[in-house]
Amino acid sequence: MNAKRKVLVTGACGLLGSHLMVSLSRHHEVIGVDRHPWWGDHPATVLQGDLATPGFLTTIMATASPDIIVHCAAMANVDACERHPELAYACNATITRDLARAAPSHALIVYVTTDGLFQGDRSFATEEQLPCPRTVYARSKLHGEWDVALATPNHLIVRTNFYGWSSGRKQTAAEWLYHALDAGELVTLFDDFFFTPIYVVDVVQRVERLMMDGHRGIFHVVGKDRVSKHQFGAMLAEASGLSMSHVVRGSINAAPMAADRPKDMSLSSARFEAATGLRAPECMSGLQRFVADRDRPLSARFDAIGERDRAVVS
Ligand SMILES: NC(=O)c1ccc[n+]([C@@H]2O[C@H](COP(=O)([O-])OP(=O)(O)OC[C@H]3O[C@@H](n4cnc5c(N)ncnc54)[C@H](OP(=O)(O)O)[C@@H]3O)[C@@H](O)[C@H]2O)c1
Repeated sequence: MNAKRKVLVTGACGLLGSHLMVSLSRHHEVIGVDRHPWWGDHPATVLQGDLATPGFLTTIMATASPDIIVHCAAMANVDACERHPELAYACNATITRDLARAAPSHALIVYVTTDGLFQGDRSFATEEQLPCPRTVYARSKLHGEWDVALATPNHLIVRTNFYGWSSGRKQTAAEWLYHALDAGELVTLFDDFFFTPIYVVDVVQRVERLMMDGHRGIFHVVGKDRVSKHQFGAMLAEASGLSMSHVVRGSINAAPMAADRPKDMSLSSARFEAATGLRAPECMSGLQRFVADRDRPLSARFDAIGERDRAVVS
């Protein structure tokens, strides 16, 4: 049983942050910070403001006095980062550097970062592979990784790619896809763009395990299956009993997007599995729980880690 800790979650009202707030609050004293108000069914303390406001980070640290900081706030729209590199660096690099400097010296800093750090010409990238980012978003997040690692050895860098139900303020890609399938809208999904998606509830459980069991360094926390966006859509349709009849296959090469994304963003979970004894979840299992959680309030989405999560690795 881990001792009760004081945890600060930035980006507390976003997709990952809101799920972390609820799950961590079951065992720890949690304070969030976000520029938006708290929206979940579970009561939570969220300091509202912009992390870039001079003096705000000092106020937050004095109020929360955290043992652990989970830094989720970011500018995470890949094309917006490409169009506005100065804003991307200000949010993803400068704020991260200032947060790491303002943190209490004993605090564990958990930095949530992206699977998009590599060239994308190889599958299942490992933590040993050197990043070589193609996009402004990924470069700015890599700066964030360096800032955290330089500030303290007491860090966890979690590279991931997750989906889930948001507050509704800013629809996630999976939410959009679910609703488009449900409405029978014409949708194009790439069959040459690959990732290893993981349901946000699974990320939260795994990040908590890493934090509380004393693991430090870089971990890839993703799903087991490498799937194309089209395969992901087909699995979502199957999990939710919706039709794929309005979905057409497309190529990322033909899509007009500002950022030149890596075509294969799949990451290996081997290091995570070996360290924790938890397995990377299968894509279909995550999607089935995503669909089942659609009308559940945030606080009802967390079960204890069950047998399905035990690693088969020895
Ligand atoms: N979603 C994914 O699949 C994915 C994949 C890889 C990595 N990540 C990383 O995971 C983390 C969480 O992602 P997410 O999808 O949960 O993001 P999200 O839903 O956009 O949540 C981030 C929250 O932080 C807020 N925020 C951003 N900048 C802020 C600032 N300067 N001051 C105060 N609040 C601020 C955002 O407000 P606004 O909405 O107004 O900006 C939003 O409420 C990010 O670091 C992201 O880079 C996400």
